Amino acid sequence: MRRWTTLILMAWTACAFPQDLSGDKAFGSRKYSDYEKPETCRSCHMDIYQQWTQAMMSQSYVHHWDEIEYFDLAVAHAEKVPSLKGPVDGCNGCHAPLAYLAGDAPPPRPSEGSRANEGVSCDLCHTIKGWQGDVPFNFSYVSSPGRKKYGAKTGLDSPHHDTQVLDLYTQTEYCGNCHNEKNPFGIWVKSTQIEWKAGPYAREKVPCFRCHMPRAWSRSAKMAAEDSVAQHLFHGAHDPGKVGGSVEIRMHPEEREVLYDDVVVLNVQLFNAKAGHKIPTGSVEDRILWLHVTATDSKGKSYHLPVDKKGFEGEEYTIACDTLAYQDMGLPKGIEGFKGVQRDGVPAGDRIFRMPYFDPEGRMTIMQWNTKSQGLDYRIGPRETKIETFTWQLPDDIELGRVTFHAVLNFQKLVKPVADFLGVPPDESEIVPVNSASTWIEVVE
Ligand code: HEC
Ligand code: HEC
Ligand code: HEC
Ligand code: HEC
Ligand code: HEC
Repeated sequence: MRRWTTLILMAWTACAFPQDLSGDKAFGSRKYSDYEKPETCRSCHMDIYQQWTQAMMSQSYVHHWDEIEYFDLAVAHAEKVPSLKGPVDGCNGCHAPLAYLAGDAPPPRPSEGSRANEGVSCDLCHTIKGWQGDVPFNFSYVSSPGRKKYGAKTGLDSPHHDTQVLDLYTQTEYCGNCHNEKNPFGIWVKSTQIEWKAGPYAREKVPCFRCHMPRAWSRSAKMAAEDSVAQHLFHGAHDPGKVGGSVEIRMHPEEREVLYDDVVVLNVQLFNAKAGHKIPTGSVEDRILWLHVTATDSKGKSYHLPVDKKGFEGEEYTIACDTLAYQDMGLPKGIEGFKGVQRDGVPAGDRIFRMPYFDPEGRMTIMQWNTKSQGLDYRIGPRETKIETFTWQLPDDIELGRVTFHAVLNFQKLVKPVADFLGVPPDESEIVPVNSASTWIEVVE
């Protein structure tokens, strides 16, 4: 009898429950119909629903650049290199979770209107009941769809569903399930939650939610009492207002009065005052942040000042120049001997805050799944301040009098030459001003 019980127990545990699967083991363990549609939640949670439709979460599958990168680069690459099929199906574990869990990969194109289009939906998020592993990454969440919706508040009643509180909904690991990513080469190609954990905001217990789901006095459902409600803004790189001001900059000359044939030295301080992680974070392979400094003399003549080199290894990737990169896009695009496109597309000599991703041949890549190594991390950490200097020999024809200097820090979601090459609509490569500063000197005889 005892033996039978043990055997039955063993068989029971061996045929793993779908509710205990995470990551790639969960592929195909569910059906689309296990999940409720966001429109169902809308009937009571109107406000939260509308916020979500404005956030990238609702567009994680249908957004133009996602569709282009997924189908034209990733899926196309996996068709040529079959071992990539698993990792490329895995894009959907975060971008089209319902499709992934339903084993539908690649999912139908967004234009076909399938339920993959729901992206990171209400019901996907609110039926996450845990996660597995030491560090959350690669959709390590455990999905458990059903009548029970999990959240962070106790004692809430809903006519449509049951509610249950889980600590997870106050922990950054929840977000880390999708905001940390390791690629087939074992490289961390996304590490926002890991960066947060190593920084000052983790020590001060300021989680992702405080900045991306701020609380405001309102109603979370039409029949609910007023309360302090988590706003589902999830605003990030696609909100110029979120990016703007995130890094503060100031600038000063070493001397105010400079002889007409002398050298000017400027110091620029860049302080990451607003983000709980590095800037840029997330899709680091795509994003750039760069500092552009100009001088204008008393007659209005303008000069562009290149940044001083610091001399660290790998610095060449942090100073804009006229060179080609991203040759590996030729693989999925089927272009033999592809020469690549311009690496930076910003004025030569400007300082770029980035971490370069390299393909197996050591060339810069934006194809994160094809990244075999990474270069020096020259991004600005949370509450870190970097100093850049600009040494400028005054030109022979400089006018006497005041010279004003202007520094602008810009951000771009996708390097423009890549966006142009792939036909990504211009809003993805628009220049977003983060901050600016100015100062002056007096040129004397
Ligand atoms: C018929 C109305 C109705 C529908 C439909 C509905 N909810 Fe709710 N829900 C409520 C009410 C009422 C509350 C409690 C709000 C309060 O008292 O603050 C609630 C609370 C919640 C909570 C908070 C739980 C907690 O403990 O923090 C979550 C999460 C939630 N709903 C998710 C959903 C999701 C996801 C959907 C769609 C699949 C949905 N709801 C559909 C009415 C509804
Ligand atoms: C990326 C995952 C994610 C998505 C998508 C998401 N939520 Fe939430 N939601 C959360 C988390 C996390 C909290 C708790 C945040 C906190 O308390 O700081 C929360 C809180 C809530 C609450 C309780 C709010 C309060 O403070 O009273 C409701 C209700 C809710 N969500 C409904 C929805 C609905 C409806 C949708 C879709 C329109 C949705 N959520 C989409 C993660 C998500
Ligand atoms: C199921 C996976 C998943 C979970 C869980 C998740 N996210 Fe996301 N999130 C994504 C994906 C995918 C995108 C990218 C959307 C796009 O641009 O394609 C995204 C985008 C975002 C953005 C917008 C970034 C931008 O570029 O504008 C923010 C902010 C964000 N998430 C914050 C959070 C926070 C905070 C949490 C935890 C409460 C969280 N996410 C949980 C998958 C997830
Ligand atoms: C102290 C506030 C703060 C905290 C805490 C915080 N963020 Fe952010 N986050 C920001 C700001 C400001 C930006 C805009 C600047 C930028 O793009 O980096 C941002 C941007 C982002 C972006 C878009 C980045 C890009 O360049 O594409 C994502 C994704 C994101 N945050 C996710 C998270 C996650 C996940 C956590 C928790 C692990 C988190 N954030 C914690 C303030 C915060
Ligand atoms: C572990 C979860 C995860 C996996 C796996 C994943 N992504 Fe993402 N992806 C994200 C998150 C989170 C963001 C948002 C980061 C940010 O805003 O900086 C993102 C951003 C992107 C973006 C930029 C969106 C924009 O508008 O700026 C593209 C394109 C993209 N992913 C495509 C892919 C492709 C293709 C794959 C598979 C090869 C993939 N992703 C795999 C989570 C994931």
